Amino acid sequence: MAGSLKPFEQGLKEERDGFLYLVTTPESRALRHAFFGERAASKIPDVPSDTPTRKIEKIAVIGAGTMGGGISMNFLNAGIPVMILETKQEALDRGVGIIRKNYENSAKKGKLTQEKVEQRMGLLSTTLSYDDIKDADMVIEAVFEEMGVKEIVFKKLDEVMKQGAILASNTSTLDVNKIASFTKRPQDVVGMHFFSPANVMKLLEVVRGDKTGKDVLATVMQIAKKIKKTAVVSGVCDGFIGNRMIEQYSRQAGYLLDEGALPEQVDKAIEKFGFAMGPFRMGDLAGNDIGWAIRKRRAVDKPDIQYSKTADLLCEMGRYGQKTGAGWYDYKAGDRKPYPNQQVNDMIVQHSKDLGITRRKISDEEIIERLVFALVNEGAKILEEGIASKASDIDMVYLTGYGFPLFRGGPMLYADQVGLYNVALAMKKYAKGYHGEAWQTAPLLQKLADEGKGFND
Ligand SMILES: NC(=O)c1ccc[n+]([C@@H]2O[C@H](COP(=O)([O-])OP(=O)(O)OC[C@H]3O[C@@H](n4cnc5c(N)ncnc54)[C@H](O)[C@@H]3O)[C@@H](O)[C@H]2O)c1
Repeated sequence: MAGSLKPFEQGLKEERDGFLYLVTTPESRALRHAFFGERAASKIPDVPSDTPTRKIEKIAVIGAGTMGGGISMNFLNAGIPVMILETKQEALDRGVGIIRKNYENSAKKGKLTQEKVEQRMGLLSTTLSYDDIKDADMVIEAVFEEMGVKEIVFKKLDEVMKQGAILASNTSTLDVNKIASFTKRPQDVVGMHFFSPANVMKLLEVVRGDKTGKDVLATVMQIAKKIKKTAVVSGVCDGFIGNRMIEQYSRQAGYLLDEGALPEQVDKAIEKFGFAMGPFRMGDLAGNDIGWAIRKRRAVDKPDIQYSKTADLLCEMGRYGQKTGAGWYDYKAGDRKPYPNQQVNDMIVQHSKDLGITRRKISDEEIIERLVFALVNEGAKILEEGIASKASDIDMVYLTGYGFPLFRGGPMLYADQVGLYNVALAMKKYAKGYHGEAWQTAPLLQKLADEGKGFND
């Protein structure tokens, strides 16, 4: 601007000074990090770029529920034929109806021509028989999240699918190695963890089993590009990269309620930091009953993990979130705006009393630190264990799947910009507080902090 308004030499100098100032800001570094991080995510250290890939021209999807439908749309949008398999005709009719409705809605908004709607629907077919899908090049399973059901499906796939077909699971929590063991071809089995709504969300976690073939990985990364996803490879662990980290974030959010905060304060603080949605609004959107079911399972599998009881008490009140019109907040029909609810807030205050906690005023700064550093600490463990091969992969998961603010570059880059020394210091302080056991600094984080380095150096 200055170049056109001021004498040319002076304008040039002012613009140059402006550029030099902007290029050194944390925001500029974050955006460059995200740009290169996206490209780096598609490169897997031990899978060379000339690894041969398999031909993918026909897809089969098992299950026409929330995920199966959304996953199918990705391929239809890219012009790749999809056949969906279900156990009952009604489930197929419902699933196909939802896909059509989604396309019709896009057409109404002028985003898609009616001709394109029909073209995409024309690529979709359905079946109740495995015999019809045996020639698919890739099959993506999206049935109920139960190991017993996955076992039935994968044994059947192993029996019927042609040799060389890729067998993918959309499981969000189950062990992909175990799923692979149900087949005699574990090299062909891989996790493809889409996020809901699967036709909208950019992120795809590609879960690499111990025996997943390199050509299978290379093929999945290639097809991910075709369907316009940001694919990030994760090793096998509970929750993979994204959900394993978010669990620590959610635990802190719960503890903040026990100590003195209310949902609205927590959400507003982290939204001001730049998150698309705070943890309680996110819970209401996803359904609080899903977390409830996971905690019940954890109570059996991993009884040492502790949580604030407030989320369970909320579910006991029947407040599952937007789908029941009531969760951490109240909702009005046709409106996603959250309205704080007095009974919920009374329940939270009463719970602190029951625990013998004197509630205190918690600053927004503490809320942000505890939520974000909880992500960072778990991210450091994930990096150290090799579940993620580089820090920028973790950042890409958070930028594309969890609404982490782009201008902060993801949790790991944000920690680098704060300085790992400062992050480790804050963690030590929180380790002395309420549920301090959650703040055992990851050894990698401590080591880098001691050496004056960052995750992305
Ligand atoms: N909902 C999410 O936000 C989300 C996100 C990521 C991953 N996932 C995972 O995706 C999978 C599916 O979840 P969903 O939310 O779509 O569930 P859903 O209940 O909406 O759909 C599951 C579908 O699978 C069908 N089904 C069940 N058993 C079957 C079988 N043996 N053969 C064929 N079809 C069968 C059911 O009829 C149902 O239509 C789960 O593994 C889940 O963990 C879900």
